[in-house]
Amino acid sequence: MSHRIAVLNGPNLNLLGEREPEIYGRTSLPEIERATQERARALGIELTWIQTNHEGEFVEAVQGFKGRIDGAVINAAAFTHTSLAVRDALLAVRVPFVEVHLSNIFAREPERRRSLLADLAVGVVTGFGADSYRLGFEALARYLDAVAHPSR
Ligand code: DQA
Repeated sequence: MSHRIAVLNGPNLNLLGEREPEIYGRTSLPEIERATQERARALGIELTWIQTNHEGEFVEAVQGFKGRIDGAVINAAAFTHTSLAVRDALLAVRVPFVEVHLSNIFAREPERRRSLLADLAVGVVTGFGADSYRLGFEALARYLDAVAHPSR
């Protein structure tokens, strides 16, 4: 079963690799994208990759999932903790998604320990650096397989 998965990245993730490497690691976003594309090809999944620093564009990207995407891996970055608009878009579209973070948001400042999105997610992967994307992507692919073929 071939799925269509979008990976949606929020603000400042374009700076990965140079931005606070002690927290986020030294892998750049294009490197994570390449590794995810490779994995997608191996699994026969069509991958769309998006990064934006703008909340409105992020909301429009979520709205655009409807009918076009079977599931999403979402690192909403700081919008995770602040954006009711992103939450409302996810509620409107109801596309299954896995929330991912490079850092363990629960081990950080109090304002990062709360996610406005997590209760809407299939699951959350947080704290494994760039590997959070691989784990989240594979978990979502398996979830979509299970939904498509409940008896397998
Ligand atoms: C992040 C965690 C957020 O708190 C932060 O604003 C980010 C990145 C992560 O991947 O660890 O920009 O989502």
